[in-house]
Amino acid sequence: MFARKLANQYDLLLIARRKDRLATLAAELRAQYGSVVDTLCADLSDETELALVAARISSEANLSLLVNNAGFGAKGLFWEAGVEVQDQMHRLHVGATLRLCHAALSNMVGRNVGGIINVASIAAFVRRPGSASYSSTKAWLMAFTESIYLDLKSIQSEVKMQALCPGFTKTEFHNTIGTDRHRLAPFSLFLRTEYVVEESLRGLARGKLLVVPGWRYKLLVSLISKLPTFLRLAVETAGSSNLTSI
Ligand SMILES: NC(=O)c1ccc[n+]([C@@H]2O[C@H](COP(=O)([O-])OP(=O)(O)OC[C@H]3O[C@@H](n4cnc5c(N)ncnc54)[C@H](OP(=O)(O)O)[C@@H]3O)[C@@H](O)[C@H]2O)c1
Repeated sequence: MFARKLANQYDLLLIARRKDRLATLAAELRAQYGSVVDTLCADLSDETELALVAARISSEANLSLLVNNAGFGAKGLFWEAGVEVQDQMHRLHVGATLRLCHAALSNMVGRNVGGIINVASIAAFVRRPGSASYSSTKAWLMAFTESIYLDLKSIQSEVKMQALCPGFTKTEFHNTIGTDRHRLAPFSLFLRTEYVVEESLRGLARGKLLVVPGWRYKLLVSLISKLPTFLRLAVETAGSSNLTSI
């Protein structure tokens, strides 16, 4: 989501599993913006590969921004969906975020500069059947980001933390799950990727901890957060014709 927007301001280190896609994107960004774009092919849900990425991040001399964006969704009721895939989701959303935030902050805090964006989801606030691991890991991401924000505030640090909580966004996310976007929600509810990234970076510049792009999703989060639990659960159960993640 972020690389294209950041390439005209920053040198980048892109991390993902698919080497060919990384190489193509890096070449495109170098040609378009003239920035240094490095790549690291790694599965962040793998302990050994994650350790290598963490070591690289903690040793980057001018690290100024970490975006923990890698993530995926799944379909199905908790006990029917494969346990391996849900375990992998926890390792990626929780384990990798924890480790990479630790690596980045050990680098940034001493220099009193930089920021971290953790990409959560409105699923952190609005749960639905078929997303036990997804919603719970995204809720963890929210609480984790908030808690580090407090740690940083307690030492008057300039390092910024953000939990980005988008709703439905037009990316490959739902193709990967194998869900037809058109059957999931009205087209108008799908946010443009560029818009989500712009809102996030605008928020980061202002030191905003929680960013929920789009007025519909802001309204949804603020309403659902005010409901008593029994009513929220009734709304969440009723609003779910399709058992998949957001
Ligand atoms: N799209 C939405 O509607 C939506 C809504 C709310 C939140 N989000 C969140 O937004 C974030 C980005 O997702 P997206 O919508 O941009 O989906 P996407 O188009 O499927 O992109 C996911 C990215 O994560 C990388 N990735 C996945 N598993 C990985 C792993 N094990 N190790 C390293 N990289 C991995 C993928 O690259 P490789 O496959 O090459 O590794 C890809 O670059 C996710 O955290 C997602 O939960 C998405």
